[in-house]
Amino acid sequence: MTSLLSVSNLEVAYGTIPALRGIDLDVNKGEIVTLIGANGAGKTTTLRTISGLLKPKTGDVTYDGRTITGIKPHVITAMGVSHVPEGRGIFANLTVNDNLELGAYLRKDKIKQSEYERIFTLFPVLKERIKQSAGTLSGGEQQMLAISRALMSKPQVLLLDEPSLGLAPQMVQTIFRVIKEINAEGTTILLVEQNAHMALVTAHRGYVMETGRIVLTDDTKAMLSSDRIKKAYLGG
Ligand SMILES: Nc1ncnc2c1ncn2[C@@H]1O[C@H](COP(=O)(O)OP(=O)(O)OP(=O)(O)O)[C@@H](O)[C@H]1O
Ligand SMILES: [Mg+2]
Repeated sequence: MTSLLSVSNLEVAYGTIPALRGIDLDVNKGEIVTLIGANGAGKTTTLRTISGLLKPKTGDVTYDGRTITGIKPHVITAMGVSHVPEGRGIFANLTVNDNLELGAYLRKDKIKQSEYERIFTLFPVLKERIKQSAGTLSGGEQQMLAISRALMSKPQVLLLDEPSLGLAPQMVQTIFRVIKEINAEGTTILLVEQNAHMALVTAHRGYVMETGRIVLTDDTKAMLSSDRIKKAYLGG
C-alpha cells in the first residue's frame, strides 16, 4: 500500500522539554488511522507538527511523496491536508456561513452549491443554523461546523484532534458516523482521540502513544481484543 502521509523519526520539543521523542507513523490512502494515548502523550503535538504549526527538531513529514517539513501551514492546507484543531477553532463572532466560506479561502475556485448540499446531508442541523453566529451553536454543532469548514478546503487528508471531546454520547455517535461517511467518500483520516473505544471501532489501524513515543501499532480489530489495550485504554 502507498502511504499518503508519513512521519519519520519526528522529534519536537517545547523549549528544552521534549514532547515527541522520535515517532514514526504512516497513513495509507483511504484509511482511517487513529492515534490514542493519555493526556500529555504528544497527540496534539503530532498533528500540529504535520500541519506545519510546529517545527520539528529532527525528522520528516512526507505527504503524497513530497517532504512538507517546515512548509507554512496555509501551504500545507492548500496542498490537501486540513486540520480540525483541539477546541475546534471556529470564529465565534462570524456566522456559520462565513465560517464555511473561510474554510475555502485558500481555494482558487468558488464553492459550489453541491458542496453546501454535501455538508447539509452530513449535518442537516447546519442548514437551519446557516445565518446564526457560530459562538451560539451547541458544542456538538460547533464540532460539526469545524469539520465542515475543514471539508471546504477539499482535503485529501483530514487531521481530527479530539472530535468527541465534551460531547454527549448521542452526539459522539453522530460525529463518529459522519467521520466514517467522509472516509467512505474518499477522504483519508488521521484521528486523535481520548475516547479509545469509539476511535478503535471507527478506525482501520491504530497507534498508541505514551510520553512522546509510539509504543504499539496494529489493526484496530487486534487492538480491541488485546489485553494490554483493554487494561490501559478500554477500562479493563
Ligand atoms: N505550548 C506548549 N508549551 C510547553 N509545553 C507544551 C506545550 N504544548 C504541549 N506541551 C507539553 O507537551 C506534551 C505533549 O502535549 P500534547 O498537547 O501534544 O499532548 P496530548 O497527547 O494532545 O494531550 P491531551 O490528550 O491532553 O490533549 C505535554 O507534556 C504538554 O505539557
Ligand atoms: Mg491534545
